[in-house]
Amino acid sequence: MTIVSQNEHKRLAGEKAIDFVEDGMIVGVGTGSTVAYFIDALARVKDRIAGAVSSSEQSTQRLRAHGIEVMDLNASGTLSLYVDGADECDPHKRLIKGGGAALTREKIIAEASRKFVCIIDPVKQVPVLGKFPLPVEVIPMARSLVAREILALTGGQPVWRDGTVTDNGNVILDIHNLSITDPVAMEREINQIPGVVSVGLFARRPADIVIVGGEPPVVLR
Ligand code: 5RP
Repeated sequence: MTIVSQNEHKRLAGEKAIDFVEDGMIVGVGTGSTVAYFIDALARVKDRIAGAVSSSEQSTQRLRAHGIEVMDLNASGTLSLYVDGADECDPHKRLIKGGGAALTREKIIAEASRKFVCIIDPVKQVPVLGKFPLPVEVIPMARSLVAREILALTGGQPVWRDGTVTDNGNVILDIHNLSITDPVAMEREINQIPGVVSVGLFARRPADIVIVGGEPPVVLR
């Protein structure tokens, strides 16, 4: 029996997402190691697309290295397709994201896109979100305030991701020990704390399609 590694699952998911790329599209591109496989596959069809909108400096560098034009979301308008990874995915295609600290730009592009295709390896599938610590992007001066309010609100343990500065110049708190039974409510409540830029719960706007890497990849619609 062949044992397929997690990286191989990521590659299979990333390459399968090319099926959703149509001629002339401006493609929204997420961040992370699974997305890196998608970008490499996108490079092979780059002459068919008009360009990309990127969710991070990391993805921008990889896109440009392949000669793919990176455009400003303000100029592109609504996107037909956004492809991104996730840290956890529940059966309703609601996600935890932000392991790579790019959650705010990812959320903006997801909101601006008609179709969000999420590419994951099978380890990311969970019945209930929250085992993966929930990332929250925070304005630096509000770090302690937000940590106290999140503890009171959720009972989870906020841990400062020391040394990480986001592309927007902010910090990340990772909330441990959560079991998120109502992700839409938790997303709304955390968003309301002053100093929170965004929370890595993608529940109000979940993925539309999930591709789980495997041989063959599974497409959940
Ligand atoms: C970055 C993200 C990533 O999509 C998430 O962390 C998954 O990463 P990987 O594909 O490397 O497992 O949300 O902010």
